[in-house]
Amino acid sequence: MADIKQGIRIKGIGRYVPELVATNEDFTKIVETSDEWITQRTGIKTRHITNGEPTYYLGAMAAKEAVADAGISAGDIDLIIAATVTADFYTPSMACIIQRELGAIGCMAFDINAACAGFAYAVDMAKRYLYSGNDVKTVLVVAAEELSKFTDYTDRSSCVLFGDGAGAFVIERCDGAMYSNYLGADGNGADKVVARALKSENAFRTNTEEFDMSMPQTKEHYFYQDGREVYKFATKALPNAVEKACERAGISPSELDAIVPHQANIRIIETAAKHLGLPMDKFPMYIDRYGNTSSASIPLAFYDAVKDGKIKRGDKVCLVGFGGGLTYGAVVFEY
Ligand code: ACO
Repeated sequence: MADIKQGIRIKGIGRYVPELVATNEDFTKIVETSDEWITQRTGIKTRHITNGEPTYYLGAMAAKEAVADAGISAGDIDLIIAATVTADFYTPSMACIIQRELGAIGCMAFDINAACAGFAYAVDMAKRYLYSGNDVKTVLVVAAEELSKFTDYTDRSSCVLFGDGAGAFVIERCDGAMYSNYLGADGNGADKVVARALKSENAFRTNTEEFDMSMPQTKEHYFYQDGREVYKFATKALPNAVEKACERAGISPSELDAIVPHQANIRIIETAAKHLGLPMDKFPMYIDRYGNTSSASIPLAFYDAVKDGKIKRGDKVCLVGFGGGLTYGAVVFEY
C-alpha cells in the first residue's frame, strides 16, 4: 500500500566500472556483427568488462564512494543489501565480502537476487527495514554485476549486450517525504532468462534420469534469453510498474522529473516512453557507454544523471527494473 509519509533520503551515491572497454568494433573481430546492427537494435556503443577483478570488488569500490559521498563512516552502516546475479561465491554472500572491504564489521549483510529488477527490490527492502523498528538507521544498497563471466562470446545475439559495473546508495529514512513502490514477478516466464548453477550431483545419486525442470537446455552455465519474449514482456511491464507506483504515490507519471529504467535496450525504453506519453528526456539513458549491466544499470544511470545535472535534489524520481524471473519493480521517491 501507498505510504506517502514514510520516505527515504539518498544520502550518498557511488559507482564503479572496470577500466577495460570493449567497443562494437571489437565484437566484429569475434562474432559476425556490425557497429550498425548493435547501435540500431540496442543503442549500445561500448561496455566495460572486467580484466580479472571479481564482482565483489566492483561493488566494494562503488560502496566506498557512496559511503564517502554520504559523509558517514563504515561503522554507521546498520545493514548492507547487495543485489547481484553474478556473485563470486554461493557462500559467503557478496554483501559480507563488501562489508569486510569497507570495515563495516557487525552490521547485517545479505544478498538478494531479483535479476535486473534487483536494485528496485533492494531499495524497497531498505525502506522497509528503516521503518520497521529503530535498529536500522543507515542502509547501504549495492548492485554489482560481472555479466561477462556467464556471457557466451560465441553467441552474437547476446554477447554484444552485456557489460560489468556497480552502483551504490546510502539510504536513510526521511519522515514526511513521498515514497511508493510496485514490485512483482511472473514465474511463468522463469524459462525466458536463464543462467544455470551447479547441477544436482552427489555421492549417493543412483537416478541417472534428468529431472524435468521445464527450463531450456542451455550451454553449461552460459546466459540464455528468449530476446523477443523478454522484449514483449519489458515493453508492457515497465510502463505498468511506473503507472502503478505513481498511482500509489498519488501522482501522475508526468509529474515525475526523471524515470531511471533498467538499461537493457534503448528501443524498450522508447516504446515504454511512448506508452506513458512522456518524452525520452525524462529517461536518463547511458546504455551507449555501459551496455546492459543487469541490477547495476539503474544505480549507474542514476549516478551519471546526478553528475550530469539531469537529476537534482528534491526531484521526484522513479527507478524501474525488469528482468529474469521474470521480475519487475518500480520505486518512487524524492531525491
Ligand atoms: N549482429 C548482427 N546480427 C544479429 C546479431 C548481432 N549481434 N544478433 C542477432 N542478429 C540477427 C539474428 O540472427 C536475426 O537474423 P535472421 O533474421 O537472419 O534470423 C536478426 O539479427 C534479428 O534477430 P532478433 O533476435 O529478432 O533481433 P531483435 O531485433 O529482437 O534484437 C535483442 C535482439 C537485442 C536481444 C532484443 O530482442 C532485445 O533487446 N530483447 C530484450 C532483451 C532484454 O531486455 N533482456 C533483459 C533481461 S536480461 C538482463 O537484463 C540480464
